[in-house]
Amino acid sequence: MKRLLSGITPTGELHIGHYIGAITHFIEMQKSYESFVFVADLHSLTVNPDPKELKENIRKMVGVYLACGLDPKQTCLFNQSENIYHPMLSWALECNSYMGELSRMTQYKEKSQNKQSESVTCGLFTYPVLMASDILIYDADVVPVGGDQKQHVELTRNIAERFNNKYGTTFKIPNPVIAESGARIMDLQNPNKKMSKSDENPKGVIFLLEDIQKARKKIMSAVTDSDNVIKYDVANKPGISNLITIYSCLTNENIDNVEEAFANASYGEFKTKVADEVEKLLQNIQTKYNEIIKGDYIDNVLDEGLKRAEKIAKEKAYDVYKKLGVGRY
Ligand code: AMP
Ligand code: TRP
Repeated sequence: MKRLLSGITPTGELHIGHYIGAITHFIEMQKSYESFVFVADLHSLTVNPDPKELKENIRKMVGVYLACGLDPKQTCLFNQSENIYHPMLSWALECNSYMGELSRMTQYKEKSQNKQSESVTCGLFTYPVLMASDILIYDADVVPVGGDQKQHVELTRNIAERFNNKYGTTFKIPNPVIAESGARIMDLQNPNKKMSKSDENPKGVIFLLEDIQKARKKIMSAVTDSDNVIKYDVANKPGISNLITIYSCLTNENIDNVEEAFANASYGEFKTKVADEVEKLLQNIQTKYNEIIKGDYIDNVLDEGLKRAEKIAKEKAYDVYKKLGVGRY
């Protein structure tokens, strides 16, 4: 069985964009891959989040993933920060990565742009190397990520190839898997912009744990054009196209069928149907979440996951240190 690995960053609340664009993919893929999914809590330190909030977000995030259907029997789930072999490998890889290549990373450039160098952490700069370690330490075959992370997986491949050439074959070369088109969910108030947790206007975003009536209202007041024709046309009708995408993803109907089914419907009628689907989804997730979050289920899942992950990671980290000639590995 091929191995899948991905990390999820615990910043802010999860929304339906995450559900459609990331979570459902893990849930689908866990059936056919040996899966490792971890909370990338070390990566979130690069922007110095509030410790209390971070701690809560981590638990919430694991709870939501489990409530959405991530199955700990199929997916090894753990916290990155508890697996000390990730940063152990990262240091070795940092010493085999170059300032030039890291300076070219788009995410770094974007996040550090217009900032004084005193407010940009070194961690933000070396972030992709830690990510490379996360991936290479498990000999991952596939790495499902959003489009913005593809460059980091490509860097990971370069680092791995270079290391293999210099020190002998050590790492498997991983492949990024980018979610197919249609998976980009846009902001309900500004459909030209991706739905995002960092949004200033929460009316454009549907959070998975939010009040269901509030979520319905957000769908009902989503910005659309005034043609009253339910047609998928992203360039000219971004608002209605976004609602079609959401409906299509939540019902597993293809877009042509959705257009056909609602050919004679008004926007109001269609929005009601989209709101019904969103309500069903949120209801389902929240019922499970409220159950999961209560006892020590999450801790047990993370303990089990860590045990499995550590075993594999330790072996790889030791192999690398041995090849580099440090310590007595
Ligand atoms: P983020 O929390 O923005 O770093 O997103 C984590 C992952 O969730 C991304 O890599 C995407 O795969 C997915 N994702 C986030 N927002 C959206 C969105 N609006 N539409 C589709 N997928 C999304
Ligand atoms: N950087 C990723 C993101 O922001 C999270 C991440 C950390 C990750 N390590 C990873 C994703 C390893 C895939 C593989 O989404």
